[in-house]
Amino acid sequence: MDTRVVRIDMNNINRPLLKAAGELIRDGGLVAFPTETVYGLGANGLDAQAVGRIFKAKGRPADNPLILHISRVRELDRLVACVPHTARRLIDRFWPGPLTLIFKKSPLVPDVVTAGLDTVAVRMPSHPVAKGMIYYAGVPVAAPSANISGRPSPTRISHVLDDLMGRVDMIIDGGDVTVGLESTVAQVTGDGVFVLRPGGITLEKLKEAVGQDVFLDPALESGSGNDTPVSPGMKYTHYSPEAEVVIIDGLIENVADRIMQMAEDLKARGKKVGILATEQTRAFYGTGFVISAGDRDRPSSIAAGLFAALREFDRIGVDIILAEGVGRDGMGLAVMNRLLKAAGYNVIRV
Ligand code: TXA
Ligand code: MG
Repeated sequence: MDTRVVRIDMNNINRPLLKAAGELIRDGGLVAFPTETVYGLGANGLDAQAVGRIFKAKGRPADNPLILHISRVRELDRLVACVPHTARRLIDRFWPGPLTLIFKKSPLVPDVVTAGLDTVAVRMPSHPVAKGMIYYAGVPVAAPSANISGRPSPTRISHVLDDLMGRVDMIIDGGDVTVGLESTVAQVTGDGVFVLRPGGITLEKLKEAVGQDVFLDPALESGSGNDTPVSPGMKYTHYSPEAEVVIIDGLIENVADRIMQMAEDLKARGKKVGILATEQTRAFYGTGFVISAGDRDRPSSIAAGLFAALREFDRIGVDIILAEGVGRDGMGLAVMNRLLKAAGYNVIRV
């Protein structure tokens, strides 16, 4: 398939080009586009056949449902059966932005979007290119992250080109994304607000907005056991570079010492070692391929750099990645969630 690659600057939007992208989606095409979280791969969310092409292009399991993206809040009404009061508060506060909410679906939403569930995930992105494209499409846009299934989500245009060139109709280059991790997925139930996937909107911000406790899906940190994740996507291997990933977690001094020691041992055994460090520690390591994901004191900077760092290790071709754990405050919770998944929950506590 021929893939048309176009560049659209979010600060100086080429409207005719964006309109063409929206119309391509409306007419059944596949378009990769930038959002504030990660790049998405969009199709007409009301066209079951077009949505089916997304699963094929990504190699995505059919039982993993998609998010419908809208450009105006009032588009929500025809997609869902009802909007609980607390969900309305979250919408008022965080849309447009990196928050996906789960609702009971309306009959209009095709089963292929929701993987047969009776609920549907909806989000209104804030990125001007994403919002404009959805507006011109005139339909809700079903869009997972624009990566081959299992790989880290794309945060740079090069990641999208690597994964989807020749597999989709159009790729919109909108430069680097800002958040760098996917949206928070949350569900309002009679028992409270549950976070199924931590992401761009932090737990702290959600709590403040609803004025009550917000619960984490218990399956999130364990990754195994009897807890089946409510969000089907969380059960798959994800965000994974080719290399094996091990997280070393604890006091940063101990972490850095242990990583240094492990890196030397592994090197002596002929392994090519990657070290996922932070600004505070990068200069400490005298061995291995060291990449800093960001600043420990600003977890959002680590969120922005994490997926690019994981992909960079693959480009270098390391055998193993030793990753520093980070604190769970703010965006740190989402960073650790993605790291744990990339590592298959392989953690050494020091
Ligand atoms: O930031 C984002 O959310 C990006 C951009 C492109 O918007 N999209 C994204 O989509 O990350 P995807 O498909 O990679 O992840 C969607 C997540 C999956 O974990 C999926 O299982 C969950 O949302 N999900 C979708 N529909 C659901 C539903 N009805 N109930 C529970 N979880 C659902
Ligand atoms: Mg994804």
